[in-house]
Amino acid sequence: MTATWVQVLAGYLHLLAVAVYVGGSIAMEFVLGPAQSYVPPAQAQVIGQRSADRFLVLVWGALALFPISGLLLFFSLGDQHTLSGMQFFTTRYGQTLLGMIVLWAVLVVNGAIITFVLRPRLAQRASAQGGGSGVAQRLEVMQSAVKWVSHISRIDLGIAVVIVLLGASLAYGDGIL
Ligand code: HEM
Repeated sequence: MTATWVQVLAGYLHLLAVAVYVGGSIAMEFVLGPAQSYVPPAQAQVIGQRSADRFLVLVWGALALFPISGLLLFFSLGDQHTLSGMQFFTTRYGQTLLGMIVLWAVLVVNGAIITFVLRPRLAQRASAQGGGSGVAQRLEVMQSAVKWVSHISRIDLGIAVVIVLLGASLAYGDGIL
């Protein structure tokens, strides 16, 4: 495999991850989300939960693909020669790449909060269907979790859009910092 093929493969995988993460987030936020308001709340909850569960698989796949393809891009493009030693912190290219990595880490932390903290709270509500004590309290927990998932998802979409800007500025310039 020549360096050119590595670059093409790395670039392809990186942009595929961008398409899945950003495109999927936009579809969830602006297509599926608003459509849910046209069906009864119980059905909207099931649709939201099932689609979010499936989308989280794609989200984690994309989040894993970013550093793998990004580092492959970095080394195959030979960009590391511009970033020896402290240049990672002092050059525009290095600072921009560092910013992308830090923001990617924020997406990972937010993804973990949604997956391991908030999703179980929504699932807990589903198991409460049919009545029983504490349903009102679980409903409150569920509504709070739905609100937080929505807030964090919007923040993640904003962060991803900023990272795309940083990535484009690296690919077609020297970075924007
Ligand atoms: C650990 C995480 C990441 C690393 C190490 C990384 C690394 C890189 C590298 C080395 C490049 C090529 C720069 C050049 O051409 O000189 C790049 C480009 C790019 N990155 Fe990332 N990246 C990461 C995460 C992300 C994320 C999370 C996104 C978007 C959500 C993203 C979007 C982009 C875009 C849009 C480009 C420009 C691609 C092009 O137009 O060819 N990156 N990234």
